[in-house]
Amino acid sequence: MSRGHIVTGLDIGTSTIKVLVAEKRASEWEVLSYVKMPSFGLRRGAVVNPEETAKNLQLLLDGVQKDCGQKIHSVLVNIGGSHLHVTPSDGLISVSRADHIISEEDRDRVLQATRAINIPLNEEILDVFPKEFIIDEERGIKQPIGLTGVRLEAKVILLCYFQSYFINLTQAVLGAKLQIDDIVPSPLAAAEAVLTREQKEIGAAVIDIGSATTSLAVFEEGDLIHLAIFPLGSANITNDIAIGLRTDVSIAEDIKKQHGSCILQKSGKESGATKKKLEVSDGAHSLSFTKKQLVGIIEPRVSEILDLMQKELKSIGRSELLPGGIVLTGGGAKLPKIKDLAKQQLKLPVQIGIPKGILGLEEDPALATVAGLVMGSAYFDDIHQEGVLGLSMEALKGWLPKFRRMFRVFIP
Ligand SMILES: Nc1ncnc2c1ncn2[C@@H]1O[C@H](COP(=O)(O)OP(=O)(O)OP(=O)(O)O)[C@@H](O)[C@H]1O
Ligand SMILES: [Mg+2]
Repeated sequence: MSRGHIVTGLDIGTSTIKVLVAEKRASEWEVLSYVKMPSFGLRRGAVVNPEETAKNLQLLLDGVQKDCGQKIHSVLVNIGGSHLHVTPSDGLISVSRADHIISEEDRDRVLQATRAINIPLNEEILDVFPKEFIIDEERGIKQPIGLTGVRLEAKVILLCYFQSYFINLTQAVLGAKLQIDDIVPSPLAAAEAVLTREQKEIGAAVIDIGSATTSLAVFEEGDLIHLAIFPLGSANITNDIAIGLRTDVSIAEDIKKQHGSCILQKSGKESGATKKKLEVSDGAHSLSFTKKQLVGIIEPRVSEILDLMQKELKSIGRSELLPGGIVLTGGGAKLPKIKDLAKQQLKLPVQIGIPKGILGLEEDPALATVAGLVMGSAYFDDIHQEGVLGLSMEALKGWLPKFRRMFRVFIP
């Protein structure tokens, strides 16, 4: 049987590294291998010890290659951590052609002009996301090429990162003898897997609750309009349980996964269970607590995370104003009742984001980032081969908030 197009997504998370090898045949993605293992060398989403992460990655890669009988040469990898942030910018140029028809070069120049802002010395711009183009006062233009005007303005958001963490990440991946096809911010990859095109058009956000970070990516009219990552995640809930119930972190983690919830059922059949003593044993000691006690520890932390999200949405004027709703991803989204608490607090429709586009992949919101890395690459290739909506690759390049292979990094 002939082989299709094979892509490898690598999600380097604070608690887990996940690798997904998938093959595209016709229009369907199919899993060839999915392997995960605990990660090392990261702090709050950023690689701080590249050698350790590279070793970790090599081990994982051996497993993946055995599993799917394929040598992995290159990957699409995520970049996470609260050092990633966006900042608004704009640019203005005069249209160069005598007939005032806007060319691809004009669009590239105006986008380049948006990069000319002061950012700290140790930061770099990863990507430019156009929000709109303005041609001679005519606002709200998404695609300026071929239109006519004298002044071309672009309003964008710039995605910036801390240089050292970026270098650490590339060193970790190259150190595992892998080439990099692209480096994609984690929340963009997660959004690719779980938000529909319609949701992105009418206004929606993905909130990825990982182990040490929670990230937010907001879309409107098909474009990314905001992105933020906070150094707080589901591991903070585990730590709270360890402190609250005076137990080890590993036991607290099991308790969270087995008995955790963020809303206490006050009425109905389950209400009696909230006072019942739950017993957990670590072999040497036995620990007893009530569901009410446990929810009393978990709920304030989840609420704090959701509050941060609400404040961020407020800061961009979108609090309670995203008709496409919120999609929760990451391992933290597996906490029972989190959807209900998020609905109450954010006052928006909320779904748990299970990536659906890859045949044979487990139904798990923690896999959104790794699935999105693979699925986003497919989108790129589709554009390459077929064009979208009849537009050429050239016309689309530069304004689509999709993955662009800007960072092909080869082993030296
Ligand atoms: N069933 C569950 N209930 C509650 N929490 C869970 C459950 N399963 C996993 N988690 C939590 O999800 C977190 C891991 O999620 P994920 O794999 O998305 O994180 P990560 O990508 O490694 O971290 P980050 O994105 O912050 O760098 C852990 O803190 C884990 O405790
Ligand atoms: Mg993650």
